[in-house]
Amino acid sequence: MAGVLDPQLKRALAERVRYYNELGIYDFYRREPAIADPSTRRDAELYESPSIQPEQRDLMTPRSKAAIAVPVEENIFEVAIPNAESGVADPVQALRLIREDLGDCTRCRLSKQGRKQIVFGVGNPNADLMFIGEAPGADEDQQGEPFVGRAGQLLNNMIKAMGLRREDVYIANIIKCRPPGNRTPERDECETCSPFLMRQIAAIKPKAIVALGAVAAKTLLAINAPMSEFRGRWFDFRGTELAVTYHPAFLLRDPRQKKETWKDLQMVMKELGLTIPAKGVD
Ligand code: URA
Repeated sequence: MAGVLDPQLKRALAERVRYYNELGIYDFYRREPAIADPSTRRDAELYESPSIQPEQRDLMTPRSKAAIAVPVEENIFEVAIPNAESGVADPVQALRLIREDLGDCTRCRLSKQGRKQIVFGVGNPNADLMFIGEAPGADEDQQGEPFVGRAGQLLNNMIKAMGLRREDVYIANIIKCRPPGNRTPERDECETCSPFLMRQIAAIKPKAIVALGAVAAKTLLAINAPMSEFRGRWFDFRGTELAVTYHPAFLLRDPRQKKETWKDLQMVMKELGLTIPAKGVD
């Protein structure tokens, strides 16, 4: 099959290439074929397929970890546009490039709805621990730094209770602009903005992430679940451990939940190898 293209597909591809060329795009990259994992259902189907040679099938014994390379269906004209910080190992420089790329962002409606400034993120670019909240509030919008208001004071106490300083961790939000009236961010706002957060996470490479509150948890994990299902366990977030705890603003309204929050933070401290003091969150 290799090298033989259906004429109709060939025409469609040629048209697509012309279209991209008109946009000024000339370089196309093909992704490496994915490696099939014999433990997945799709590979189990492949295992049964008559097109698989007996010797390949031997390699695919479902219980074994062995895998064979199979090309997966893909859009071969997908254009890989590298991020500005691609290949930059220094997190300080990578974060600077991400910030530059963000610019004076007008990618979503929040840029026209009264935001004073973009709240990028703050802290140690080499942090082992990252806290991710929902969105800047009025104080953050004013000062250009996440978690500097009352909720921020409580987050500082949480960090201190863990035996850390605010400067040791990195703090960011799902979205970088204040929604009017501190309303919950809309889904499209999260979708537009969160790729920059993903790039910040990739640059910092923390050992653990703590999502503060349900909006952060739901957006990062793409799971619609109540807090009770998020808390008290680890999630794999693109290869990084992610835990969820209550948002400090919620704790200001219901301080009884600080005890529960302390349990979550202790789980995080254990993961990071931090000494657990007896005292909890004030
Ligand atoms: N609440 C958040 O989620 N983030 C902030 O930066 C401040 C308050």
